[in-house]
Amino acid sequence: MNAAILGTGHSYPEGILTNADLEKIVETSDEWITSRTGIKQRRKAAPGEYTSQFAARASQEAIKRAGIDPNEIDLILCATVTPDQILPSTACLIQAQLGANKAAAMDIVAACSGFLYGLSIANPMIRCGQVKYALVIGAELLTRYVDYTDRSTCVLFGDGAGAAILGPVEEGRGILAARIRSDGRYEEQLYAPGGGTKAGFTAETIARGDHFFKMKGNEVFKVAVRSMAEISRGVLCEAGLKTEDIDLFIPHQANQRITDAVSNALNVDESKVFSNIAQHGNTSSASIPIGLDECVESGRVKKDDVILMASFGGGFTWGAVAMRW
Ligand code: ACO
Repeated sequence: MNAAILGTGHSYPEGILTNADLEKIVETSDEWITSRTGIKQRRKAAPGEYTSQFAARASQEAIKRAGIDPNEIDLILCATVTPDQILPSTACLIQAQLGANKAAAMDIVAACSGFLYGLSIANPMIRCGQVKYALVIGAELLTRYVDYTDRSTCVLFGDGAGAAILGPVEEGRGILAARIRSDGRYEEQLYAPGGGTKAGFTAETIARGDHFFKMKGNEVFKVAVRSMAEISRGVLCEAGLKTEDIDLFIPHQANQRITDAVSNALNVDESKVFSNIAQHGNTSSASIPIGLDECVESGRVKKDDVILMASFGGGFTWGAVAMRW
């Protein structure tokens, strides 16, 4: 038995923050943002909106498309670094909104790689029969942790959620190979030090902006390209696939230049590479499941297509999954 994605869904807040809007907030320009990142706009949640709402909407769509009942779900994994609250997990809050009362639920904290971590964890549990249906979600309201005085990060991030139902299928279909990795020595390349037991959450840490994301962008860039290409090659090899076999490549949407560099390193033709970075910016763990669902909705992905997904994020964490649709 293999594990395959049986249904997908996504959801975004309605609010849009354009490059022109950012030009009024920090010293930047549409020209700089577009040429350095490919981003033209991103979604921004309104005050009062929270992560699990978007995750639940994306999940409802995925459940409907998979044609199952929420009570048939055995496992809910929500990848997020922007949870509703510290306790309980966002996955439990989503579970309550869905009425998926028979599932175990937990969050995965692996930044932009979280969704691929989720697929990698659910995959063997389905293969061995411990779990029949798993709901894997990537959901983020990153704009809540963005410092709108820091032009090097505030132009990058957006909000949204994507979800997938995984279930058993015959061998040869679904997930063919999956790999995840991390290296905690890179903590300070991309981090938010406030809000935990180390720095705490006090008036002082808030005034200092310790809860905001901080990133050494150009350092992250180099490691991201190298790691995504390397792990993708490993996964293709394990699945017995060649680059020419790939019908669709969905990389994490961090920066169009990263997408182009990884695609070039793997020698994947531009026509096979998915990108929605112009409309949505970097939505961290949500970017791959959102991208996959957009491809399903537009008919870009067809039965038997080979899909490669690769990601890189804070931690550092990275991963790749190859599957036959
Ligand atoms: N507008 C105008 N100028 C800017 C802006 C801006 N928004 N931001 C930075 N600059 C300036 C810098 O100050 C610098 O000026 P200087 O040369 O006078 O010092 C110049 O532009 C170049 O800055 P760099 O940081 O070297 O620019 P770079 O080309 O590397 O692009 C970016 C920055 C977009 C952040 C890029 O490095 C990147 O995308 N990195 C990877 C991000 C990533 O993949 N993150 C991982 C996932 S995120 C997660 O896990 C949550």
